[in-house]
Amino acid sequence: MDTAIAAGSSTRYAKCIEASKRVRWDIDKDVIRGRGFDLTKKFLPDRLAQIERFGLTSADERRFLSQIQGRTYANMFGLVERYIGAKMLEITRGHALGDQVVVESLVRFTDEELKHQELFRRLEVLMAVDMPKGYTFLPQPNDVANAVLSKGNWAVLGLTCHIELFTLDHYRQSIDRDPEVSELWKDVFLFHMKEESQHAVLDEMEWQREDAKVTAAERDKGVTELIELVAAVDGLLEMQAAADAEYFTRVIPRKLDKAESQHIRDGLLGAYRWQYIVSGVKNERFMQILTAMVTPEQMTRIGAALGPIMASAS
Ligand SMILES: [Fe+2]
Ligand SMILES: [Fe+2]
Repeated sequence: MDTAIAAGSSTRYAKCIEASKRVRWDIDKDVIRGRGFDLTKKFLPDRLAQIERFGLTSADERRFLSQIQGRTYANMFGLVERYIGAKMLEITRGHALGDQVVVESLVRFTDEELKHQELFRRLEVLMAVDMPKGYTFLPQPNDVANAVLSKGNWAVLGLTCHIELFTLDHYRQSIDRDPEVSELWKDVFLFHMKEESQHAVLDEMEWQREDAKVTAAERDKGVTELIELVAAVDGLLEMQAAADAEYFTRVIPRKLDKAESQHIRDGLLGAYRWQYIVSGVKNERFMQILTAMVTPEQMTRIGAALGPIMASAS
């Protein structure tokens, strides 16, 4: 690699280390601070939860549905962080005897994801204590990690870059703007976002580095695998939307008929597709990075695969 380019990218990695040190937080001292969740408040903000699509008129039901979605939201991050941490360990290994600034930035990345997983496990315990019994989060972190990590680096880094960029959008565009969201809830995702900002930059650089190494045929396989990963995520969303709809229907005092229950289930699937797939596809930076890597034909292939998901989530 050209020395000027090498020095330039090393500076970007160095900036990530600097920012990571500056924003570093502690789960108890900075985030939880002995607090529990206030169940009179929402968790996931209306816009992110797409609350209007459910047609609920009761404030209690709207709030409860936001809390269920928020609990699943925290668990989803804890879930994907298992595979992200494992993949970053592997990527770091490839740099081990290279630029030590790069190694340090990636070690911090993995360390932060380990801390985030602990944070989300702690939150699940707090929510389980106060919320009505019967919630279940179905996907298992190691099952999902094994499935994701069976794909090549190009696709896995693409999925990771997509997730970490939408994390930032969710906080800036929705969580920070809703005054009725639980204080603890807001703080969790404020602190999370502060460390994810560096991850998104590192993902981009590592994905581009991988892209520069692959042949055209390998990249084409990467596109296929990325499409397969998005389909796998969609499968998880379908499963969890059904579980969350069942929990909502069982807990609320009002009895829902079959069509109303189905409407909640479809609404949750649409909202989850928006949160975990579509909002990332709408991230401008993500689309710029992806477009610069793939051919127009490959982009058409990605667009065709996303079509039905995008249609049901908007
Ligand atoms: Fe994280
Ligand atoms: Fe992250």
